[in-house]
Amino acid sequence: MPPTFAPEPLLLSELSDGPTAGKELCEVNDIPPTGARCFRFGSGETQVEIFVQRWRGHIVAYVNRCPHVGSPLDWQPDRFLDANKEHLLCATHGAVFDVMTGHCVSGPCEGQFLQSVAIEVTDAGKVMAL
Ligand code: FES
Repeated sequence: MPPTFAPEPLLLSELSDGPTAGKELCEVNDIPPTGARCFRFGSGETQVEIFVQRWRGHIVAYVNRCPHVGSPLDWQPDRFLDANKEHLLCATHGAVFDVMTGHCVSGPCEGQFLQSVAIEVTDAGKVMAL
């Protein structure tokens, strides 16, 4: 059974085809106020897709892979929140995740976590890889 504690944040700069630490991914204002943007690094079996979610004044980032069976979470491109914009929602079997922690609060992988991604948001509003 997968661990039910939050894994260490993924450092994109440690991926074989990832961005260098400090590379700009996007600007905060490139993301709608309750929207997200996806980024892919690498190709084939080593490809990693992440999403950067803007929510209630916060910016969080996770790998786009559900801890249940590994499916992408988004039900439409760049759409990760549920209808009430309260939680992240997996489109495949409906797992519900806390936006800020990635903790699954309901669904088939309840108690597990999304893989968070280490990012930094600068005072100038730029989202940077770490
Ligand atoms: S793959 Fe996400 S709930 Fe099953």
